[in-house]
Amino acid sequence: MVLNSSVAYVDGMLSVDKHPVSSISAEMGTPLYIYSLPRALANYERLKEQFSSIQPDIHYSAKANGNLAILKALIKAGAGIDVVSGGEFHRALKAGARGEDIVFAGVGKTPEDMRYALENHVGWFNVENIDELGIINQLTASLGLPPTKIAMRLNPDVKASTHQHIATGHGTAKFGLSAAIIRDVFQNQANYPHLHFAGIHIHIGSQLQDTQATLQALQTAVELISPYEDIRTVNIGGGIPVAYRPDEQLPDVESFAKLISPVLKSFRVIMEPGRSIIADAGFLVTRVLYIKEQAGQRVVIVDASMTELIRPALYQAYHHILPVKQTPSGMLPTQVVGPVCESTDVLSQQVDLPVDLKPGDLLAVLTAGAYGMVMASNYNARPRPAEVVISEDSQDWHVVRRRETWEDLIQQEI
Ligand code: LLP
Repeated sequence: MVLNSSVAYVDGMLSVDKHPVSSISAEMGTPLYIYSLPRALANYERLKEQFSSIQPDIHYSAKANGNLAILKALIKAGAGIDVVSGGEFHRALKAGARGEDIVFAGVGKTPEDMRYALENHVGWFNVENIDELGIINQLTASLGLPPTKIAMRLNPDVKASTHQHIATGHGTAKFGLSAAIIRDVFQNQANYPHLHFAGIHIHIGSQLQDTQATLQALQTAVELISPYEDIRTVNIGGGIPVAYRPDEQLPDVESFAKLISPVLKSFRVIMEPGRSIIADAGFLVTRVLYIKEQAGQRVVIVDASMTELIRPALYQAYHHILPVKQTPSGMLPTQVVGPVCESTDVLSQQVDLPVDLKPGDLLAVLTAGAYGMVMASNYNARPRPAEVVISEDSQDWHVVRRRETWEDLIQQEI
């Protein structure tokens, strides 16, 4: 189901936690991102429940949506944060995370970013490069800190069943290190007196459909650390899929957790979910600008585009689109496109929308809470949209990021 406990039609009007999307949009304008904190928190709690056989420490992956309001709510609920840059680390601290509750991953961390994280008592580094080990070792010593906790990121050389652009665990991917290299590092831990090798990390891809590849990767990971009594933490990454289509069948998360729990028995587990917490808690509201016929198909031109939501253009991702106001009219297959000067600026190749759709009507592009706003750009000098959240108690909504202006766009130029 694409509609959920927070996003639903009430009296024919699309609503989020009972707040009509039309009234929020009337006040805020479009394009506009709306997120439900109640839904994000419910997703977080559900994941904890589904993985109760493993009891992982959940570190929300800030790259999916790093808005401070979302980070704050999840941190308050007990989540740690997974970051991939100094900028995300900074965000996590600003949102109230303690350094100890942050895991810092990333294929190309700069020494400056690593220093900043160390100065702020980072919990873990997920390391994917031998040279990185030397730098962290040296920085830890020069800052006079106790040994830094390290999880080696394994490239398990498995093929995840997901879109090729979001798979990360095949041998030729840039991510992680091979089992042979990690084995060697573990045998030579003494070379790094200021590091505490305490874990292993995998993340084979996002929106994973097949549980077998993860199981296989975890088996390799656990084999690598088994000889070492000090290495008792397995970070299983993110990747739990969400439904983007109304009829989409997903792997059953609880069975997945049960499948991997025997392998993880006697290890502490960390998880880094992003999409499964925030994707279906958010959507993008857009207004119809024009309607035309093109090659026998109805084309609807809206005021949102690939600059607000790049997933359809970049990964041929499907996002379901619904009218904000239900009408009794029939439906018509429709292509929904944005105003950007690119042929790939198509939000949906084909979706059924009301026959009587007209300029000015509002549409909601669903399941856009993850990898939406964080990947937005200013291409074609388009100001990035505003973001609104529904409060935790669902009573009210507030602006958590104002819409950019044309002036904002030229401010950094000299
Ligand atoms: N941990 C690591 C090391 C990751 O690389 C990622 C995502 C996550 C956790 C969170 O994965 P999730 O639970 O969200 O699947 N922009 C793409 C997705 C890129 C994912 C990158 N890494 C998209 O829009 O589909």
